[in-house]
Amino acid sequence: MAMVSLSSFSLLFVLLAVVNDQIGVTGEYFKLPLLRKTPRLSPTQSLLLDIHRLSHLHRSRHHHHRKQKGIIKSPLVSGAAYGSGQYFVELRLGSPPQSLLLVADTGSDLLWVTCSACRHNCSFLHPSGSTFLARHSSSFSPQHCFDSTCDLVPHPDPNPCNRTRLHSPCRYEYEYSDGSQTSGFFSKETTTLKTSSGREAKLENLSFGCGFRISGPSLSGASFNGSHGVMGLGQGSISFASQLGRRYGNKFSYCLMDYTLSPPPTSYLMIGGNQLAVSKTPKISFTPLLINPRSPTFYYIGIKSVSVNNVKLQIDPSVWSLDEMGNGGTVIDSGTTLTFLPEPAYRQILWEMKRRVKLPSPTEPTPDFDLCLNVSGNAMPQLPRLSFKLSGDSVFAPPPRNYFIETEEGVTCLAIQPISTGTGFSVIGNLMQEGFLFEFNRDKSRLGFSRHGCALP
Ligand SMILES: *[C@@H]1O[C@H](CO)[C@@H](O)[C@H](O)[C@H]1NC(C)=O
Ligand SMILES: *[C@@H]1O[C@H](CO)[C@@H](O)[C@H](O)[C@H]1NC(C)=O
Ligand SMILES: *[C@@H]1O[C@H](CO)[C@@H](O)[C@H](O)[C@H]1NC(C)=O
Ligand SMILES: *[C@@H]1O[C@H](CO)[C@@H](O)[C@H](O)[C@H]1NC(C)=O
Ligand SMILES: *[C@@H]1O[C@H](CO)[C@@H](O)[C@H](O)[C@H]1NC(C)=O
Repeated sequence: MAMVSLSSFSLLFVLLAVVNDQIGVTGEYFKLPLLRKTPRLSPTQSLLLDIHRLSHLHRSRHHHHRKQKGIIKSPLVSGAAYGSGQYFVELRLGSPPQSLLLVADTGSDLLWVTCSACRHNCSFLHPSGSTFLARHSSSFSPQHCFDSTCDLVPHPDPNPCNRTRLHSPCRYEYEYSDGSQTSGFFSKETTTLKTSSGREAKLENLSFGCGFRISGPSLSGASFNGSHGVMGLGQGSISFASQLGRRYGNKFSYCLMDYTLSPPPTSYLMIGGNQLAVSKTPKISFTPLLINPRSPTFYYIGIKSVSVNNVKLQIDPSVWSLDEMGNGGTVIDSGTTLTFLPEPAYRQILWEMKRRVKLPSPTEPTPDFDLCLNVSGNAMPQLPRLSFKLSGDSVFAPPPRNYFIETEEGVTCLAIQPISTGTGFSVIGNLMQEGFLFEFNRDKSRLGFSRHGCALP
């Protein structure tokens, strides 16, 4: 409910300006490099972390209504043959610009970075630029706690705010569904972005969280290691996508690539402009983007049915529905690795896959996975093909590498997890999204996707 009242503040929100302002008119768009860091954990270790966080998310989401914003569960991170994991976006913040790597998360709204008030000798305190040095930027300014913009973020309780004092910063405390937290000063900065034609554009007054404290498994674990914060791309008014979208076109797109390819492909988060028209993507499919007033951050889509090897499974369509209480439904989330489906649908898929697959099981079961196969010595294992029929009658048919993951040498497991119906919601995670171009178009309330869009400039 808190989020409903927050969105009504969006009119008060300060708009950004660009020094050389042509974006949105010419169809030009912003391009931010998307990268993936090489993990340190073994794939199975990190997978288990991921599962743990998500199950926590589903249990706890109703307890966080007051200040919840979304999720960031991270990343798996393969190490093995599958290049899934956490996707980082590179943002240049401050004057002169400091380069930061942020987790790209469509499941939360706040853009925040780890901040330091260090003034001198900072490379000693913060080796390898591990944090944003606010005092080294001439354009940094904390928002005042009495600014209307400050109402857009959740505050700590109690929230000290002295309206008569010149410097009384806007304190925020942002919590993720697994209980991980970041708190600090909600601030403004200038960011320097590259455009599709290679120009540099400076955007002033970007609102972001200057984080002085972070805690919790998602933000302190090994999977967060090497990142400087989170770029929330959700539908809320403070998200990076919304701040830029209000002025440059309310859409963004990305391609999550298999980074185990050599050489690693370059991919971008693209914001504003007219990316799909410019790239003339062939065979683009669309499905409506839905809003859940109870969880206004998330991008919901509708699943109508699921097929295995083109045979439609007998699943009651009601398991996919988003009810009036805001339960159920399906979100598409770049910050979750695995895909989570309602228990009855999951059981059907599992049963059908087991029936069709002709590969032996490994000698030892793999914890937390119901279907694992011994594919050692089998370069091209025949795996069942999964496809989703979406609202609008488009079909999302990812290749098996998007839902089978190598958990150890020669063992591949179905990378889908069940959620209990009733209170949970389905999640299409980032592994399932790999190799597709996705365009989140909020002006047209639709999600575009194409298997052939990733190789485009
Ligand atoms: C950014 O904010 C400052 C302070 O509120 C204001 O003076 C300036 O005009 C703003 N710039 C733009 C481009 O909106
Ligand atoms: C500055 O850094 C050096 C190492 O680079 C260290 O020896 C010195 O004590 C630091 N000075 C302060 C004031 O922290
Ligand atoms: C607020 O700030 C003013 C000016 O600094 C100070 O006089 C006043 O005592 C402060 N009020 C509170 C409640 O701290
Ligand atoms: C993070 O990475 C550094 C090296 O880059 C390593 O020393 C440290 O132990 C890692 N921390 C965690 C929590 O994995
Ligand atoms: C997979 O099968 C091969 C024989 O084809 C066997 O040597 C190997 O131990 C099996 N691996 C696992 C993990 O079960």
